[in-house]
Amino acid sequence: MSLDEYILQHIDAEGDYLHALWRDTQLCLSYGQMASGHLQGRVLKMLVRMVQPLKVLELGTFSGYATLCMAEGLGEGAEIHTFEIFDENEDFLKKWLGESPYRDKIHLHIGDALQLVPQMEERWDFAYIDADKREYVAYYEMLLPLMRPGGYIVADNTLWYGHVLEKARESDVQTRGVQAFNDFVASDPRVEKVILPLRDGLTVIRIKD
Ligand SMILES: C[S@@+](CC[C@H](N)C(=O)[O-])C[C@H]1O[C@@H](n2cnc3c(N)ncnc32)[C@H](O)[C@@H]1O
Repeated sequence: MSLDEYILQHIDAEGDYLHALWRDTQLCLSYGQMASGHLQGRVLKMLVRMVQPLKVLELGTFSGYATLCMAEGLGEGAEIHTFEIFDENEDFLKKWLGESPYRDKIHLHIGDALQLVPQMEERWDFAYIDADKREYVAYYEMLLPLMRPGGYIVADNTLWYGHVLEKARESDVQTRGVQAFNDFVASDPRVEKVILPLRDGLTVIRIKD
């Protein structure tokens, strides 16, 4: 048995609905491995439970796996707004989010998060960055003034398969995007930050009061 299998046997189950969504994601969508999956999904739910946010934002819905995990952690009256630029996923997402037990807490927005989020004039308690790696610094700069002091930003893939250790080629724009984000956050005095070496790296950032 691998350590990964051991971990999955000793944490909460993902549940039948998420398991079916995971399988349908792999069958119906390209790049199915982008979905968060069992371990990361349980971590996101736990983080939401700990922070108890009222307003949650997700940049990059893909198949809705992480959306549903975070929605599962939300308390009474709380809601999640999730943004997906790739409109070919819309029917898939409407089915899986719309038929879930958390549908009333979830608001799906199809379009570019960089354009749509600032138009909402909302204060966010918890934001999950998981969209285009090239734009991570832009997402972060957009989000900071929109976050409640004491709120949290969680960013996925911040170790980028270990490539952050390498000197990235000019053409490797994704690695360069993640490296720029990590450097920017590391030197930002407005926030506290840790990187969890979970899966592909998860940075947890707290906006100082
Ligand atoms: C890694 S996947 C998201 C995975 C999902 N959060 C999960 O954990 O299951 C990244 C998604 O971000 C979307 N995306 C990329 N740039 C975007 C943007 N500017 N606004 C909204 N979505 C974007 C992509 O189309 C893709 O579906």
